[in-house]
Amino acid sequence: MTQHHRIRVELGERSYDVVVGRSARSLLVELIPEGARRIAVVSQKGIPLAAEIVDLLTAAGAHAVERIDIGRDETDKSLGTIGELCEKFAELQMTRQDVIIGVGGGLVTDVAGFAAAVWHRGTRVLHVPTTLLGMVDAAIGGKTGVNLAHGKNLVGAFWQPAAVICDLDALDTLPERELRCGLGEISKYHFLTGDDLLAMDLPERIARCVRIKAEIVSSDEREGGRRALLNYGHTLAHAIETVGGHSLAHGEAVAVGIAFAARLARILNRIDDARVEYHRTVIEDVYGLQTRAPAGLEVGALMATMARDKKALNGLTFVLDSPHGLEVVEKIDEDIVARTLDTFLA
Ligand SMILES: NC(=O)c1ccc[n+]([C@@H]2O[C@H](COP(=O)([O-])OP(=O)(O)OC[C@H]3O[C@@H](n4cnc5c(N)ncnc54)[C@H](O)[C@@H]3O)[C@@H](O)[C@H]2O)c1
Ligand SMILES: [Zn+2]
Repeated sequence: MTQHHRIRVELGERSYDVVVGRSARSLLVELIPEGARRIAVVSQKGIPLAAEIVDLLTAAGAHAVERIDIGRDETDKSLGTIGELCEKFAELQMTRQDVIIGVGGGLVTDVAGFAAAVWHRGTRVLHVPTTLLGMVDAAIGGKTGVNLAHGKNLVGAFWQPAAVICDLDALDTLPERELRCGLGEISKYHFLTGDDLLAMDLPERIARCVRIKAEIVSSDEREGGRRALLNYGHTLAHAIETVGGHSLAHGEAVAVGIAFAARLARILNRIDDARVEYHRTVIEDVYGLQTRAPAGLEVGALMATMARDKKALNGLTFVLDSPHGLEVVEKIDEDIVARTLDTFLA
């Protein structure tokens, strides 16, 4: 019997388990909430685990199982897709007692979760994340939603799943670039905890990341404070993605953003050189990711984009490291950021 890690996301009566391990899908059937008669498995073409999940549920024989595939492009994370899914749920005569299962990366679980949140004003959803990013980030914590032409994740809901199953077998078929993206997010967890993640094997490390995210979500479900720490590296990352026309994937940009945040923290005398070097070691040596931004990005364009995204009225907001761990730092002088960025890009 394979060993699984089981992590509880504590949210009162909405608490749920996240199971992490090889073959964790074998636990899916027993985690399906009682009272369900139909199951809609929302996935995409090209995700081998989805067919296995459908077979497993069908073989268990307790439910009518239907698979619905959505598109694979980020533009498919749309209200149009939510509409199509709901039409399909209607055809299948899904009721509030039935269950939706999202099997895929963050795109699928964001869409399946949001569709579940609005179908009959809230239907139970389980997530089976099949990307590394989905396992350590997107599928956990109940943020669901879709994009508009005006921007990402503008329409959504907090809708916690009934369970999350991280079956590590899914990673065997994941393209290398997608794996790298997950590693970018995992590298941020090294700085969110005092634990030595490096001493753990990958399943244990993934489980630890889930535990950190679970613990932060439990203490701050709606991002009033601590949950913002999960945005470590993301201020510059979003600007690099926007200005660079998405030449770097999200996780790759996060890795660069974390390296920059370390540099900025050093300039602001919050951390020492050794801690900056530890950032480089984790990102480059451990995860094989780049800490340098791609050539050709202009400081002015990055600054303008970050200023547009900012929440504070004066200066910029960054999550920065300190001897006591990560902190959200507001109103950082834009000149200092621009000068640090100038040397960082050089
Ligand atoms: N809700 C949240 O808290 C949260 C957090 C982070 C990111 N997100 C969202 O997640 C999305 C990105 O998620 P992602 O990085 O997982 O990318 P993704 O969902 O777009 O998946 C990337 C690609 O990998 C394929 N794929 C997925 N699993 C596979 C597998 N096991 N084998 C082979 N191919 C597989 C997918 O079909 C897709 O083509 C974004 O829309 C982002 O906004 C949400
Ligand atoms: Zn991210």
